[in-house]
Amino acid sequence: MPSLLEALRNYSTVVADTGDIDAVAKWRPQDATTNPSLLLAAAQDLRYRGIVEGAIARRVEGIEQVLDRLCVAFGCEILKHIPGRVSTEVDARLSFDTEKSILKARNLISLYESQGVERKRILIKLASTWEGIRAAERLEREGIHCNLTLLFSFAQAVACADAGVTLISPFVGRIYDWHKQARKLEDIAIAEDPGVASVTKIYGYYKKHGYATQVMGASFRKTEQILALAGCDLLTIAPDLLQKLSLLEGEIVPRLTVENAKRLPIEKFALNEAAYRWQHNEDAMAVEKLADGIRKFDADARKLERAIAAAIEAARAAA
Ligand code: E4P
Repeated sequence: MPSLLEALRNYSTVVADTGDIDAVAKWRPQDATTNPSLLLAAAQDLRYRGIVEGAIARRVEGIEQVLDRLCVAFGCEILKHIPGRVSTEVDARLSFDTEKSILKARNLISLYESQGVERKRILIKLASTWEGIRAAERLEREGIHCNLTLLFSFAQAVACADAGVTLISPFVGRIYDWHKQARKLEDIAIAEDPGVASVTKIYGYYKKHGYATQVMGASFRKTEQILALAGCDLLTIAPDLLQKLSLLEGEIVPRLTVENAKRLPIEKFALNEAAYRWQHNEDAMAVEKLADGIRKFDADARKLERAIAAAIEAARAAA
């Protein structure tokens, strides 16, 4: 009998959610996703010291440029182990600035291209704010493909599909975390899991109405959440959960299918900016988790900047 991980690969594209290059090499995913927190952890890992030193050694401008080089350096290393795409995130500080997000994305792409990596192998990750979605809409027209992250509300998902973004990352685990905390529960049964329900609803809406935007379930807390979304276009999974799935055996029944989605009685609708903001604001969980997610990614990016600054000083002192 195949492992659940192998069985899952028959229904969903398995993606590794990590900056740990050895883990990517071990799990052989199609794609990989990084974020500022994952890159902070990887940059602090002694195994990847050479990558950090390489980014610092090539320093020509300020810390911000070194940080971009470091994100791209990790992305390039990850790409050596996967056939598909790596996601690299735009600085969370730009989450409410469409123009600066576009400039940052173009810069990341040109850094990748200077390393011989084609843009089709990169997904630029942007927070699913109204401004981030507008940036993605324009980047897609330039052939820069985007992964809209920190996605918690149905309004965010509808706006992303209308903008024609390549892929969205709805965060199952963080939705589950919020509801557990709000309801003071230890756990929520999988049949009532609000994170799973959110992705199921988005997948149904996208497939029913023929949107090309792919759905990648993200941010998992337990294997059951992953298995409950078998059939989703992609699932990005942290190494500890990949490990668990690889040790379990069993058959998988796809829970999400285009056929079933086509039968759903859900109307298509469009959201202008005011309607988007209103509907997103109606979802207290989504408002809190989006704001919190931006703050946390920003905090980790700043920690990474401080670590880079310290490493640059140490290198100078040793020279
Ligand atoms: C996805 O793109 C994110 O990097 C990730 O899944 C977030 O997961 P977390 O909620 O465990 O941080």
